[in-house]
Amino acid sequence: MRMVDIIEKKVNHEELTSEEIRFFVSGFVSGEIPDYQASALLMAIVLNDMNEREAADLTLNMMHSGDTVDLGDLPGVKVDKHSSGGVGDTTTLVVAPLVAACGGTVAKMSGRGLAFSGGTLDKLESIPGVNIGQPIERFKEIVRKIGVCVIGQTGNLVPADKKMYALRDVTGTVQSVPLIAASIMSKKLAAGSDAIVLDVKVGSGAFMKTVEDATRLAELMVKMGKLLKREVVAVVTDMNQPLGLSVGNALEFREAVQILSGKVPEGDALYEVCMLLGTQMLLLSKLAKTDAEARAMLKQAIDSGSGLGKLRSMIHELGGDEAYVSLEGMEQLCAVKRQIPVLSKSSGYVVGMQAELIGRAAQVLGAGRATKEDTIDPAVGLVMHKRVGDPIQQGEAICTLYVNDETNLTDAMETMQEAVMIGPKPDHVSPMVYDVIR
Ligand code: URA
Ligand code: CA
Repeated sequence: MRMVDIIEKKVNHEELTSEEIRFFVSGFVSGEIPDYQASALLMAIVLNDMNEREAADLTLNMMHSGDTVDLGDLPGVKVDKHSSGGVGDTTTLVVAPLVAACGGTVAKMSGRGLAFSGGTLDKLESIPGVNIGQPIERFKEIVRKIGVCVIGQTGNLVPADKKMYALRDVTGTVQSVPLIAASIMSKKLAAGSDAIVLDVKVGSGAFMKTVEDATRLAELMVKMGKLLKREVVAVVTDMNQPLGLSVGNALEFREAVQILSGKVPEGDALYEVCMLLGTQMLLLSKLAKTDAEARAMLKQAIDSGSGLGKLRSMIHELGGDEAYVSLEGMEQLCAVKRQIPVLSKSSGYVVGMQAELIGRAAQVLGAGRATKEDTIDPAVGLVMHKRVGDPIQQGEAICTLYVNDETNLTDAMETMQEAVMIGPKPDHVSPMVYDVIR
């Protein structure tokens, strides 16, 4: 078999066989297939697409390119969640402990943030002492003890994705529904949970810019889950503005603690998406029979403080100082040299936001990385005061920047002015949830 023939087949819109896909993935991982040939095939896939069978073959071969985690000896239904990336998306820190407080078993491997989008691991590390690099046996021990653990992906989980993602990132080949589906599902399947809830984001701060693409991605991933006998539910949710009000690591952790402390009202976007994801996780775990029953259980876990208790226990087990996991502790973690409001230049209504730019503003203040080697300042970032549809007066604060290093302050302020669009009349407001796909 020759790689050049496989590339030419895809260029000519032909379907690749299972053997051809296996040849590509194994040759790419071993280094026998050079990056230039892999890039050429990836670009042909971006342009000419893959059908479901090809995408499933790609996913399976990627999944088996390294270690897989066996959670079979843990009790109950193991349930995982995944969000396809975004800004101000702190759902894991809320939902994982809440589901555990309701009796669920959540063994989750999370990722880091890159560029404008945040990552759960960086948020966890804003608590002094937390070590997200736990060995698998210790990870399982924590899950067995308290029902929940979130750690970093282990070294050899889906090496094909690590290598392919790095190549896609620099060759303009990220934007493909089958490539994204294979990337996400290979990792989720290798991580070993029985049931998976996927949150596919759509909008200005997401990989998927249209509801049509996001729905196709969601449907494809649900089908792949079925093929591998896992229960998968996907929700399609809005990312045309940051999900929560906070963007930044300790700031987002604080917002999660506020929700778990009952300080955030129903109807708040982050709260509602957490409820939606938590509901689907409890249904898949067979711990609730209806949406209403699941939601009531989650609310009870907030009201009783048992969800917050689970988060504290998890931080303790990961070596962190759990005293910070409280409303007062969070204020300490979010202390910065200066809090600087960004003021609106006109009066009217917030008619739209570019979520990606808001993520970038937080990043240049030090909340995110421009390259993998950059360090993060956990306390910095921003807190939004407005959502799309809200009225605003000239001189009123759009957001507050949390600043330690003022090097990029002007850049961040200008970026925020550009990111938040103000018009004379309220415009169409996107729904929070577009679809739930089973
Ligand atoms: N998230 C992933 O893990 N992979 C992609 O390709 C896109 C988003
Ligand atoms: Ca996230």
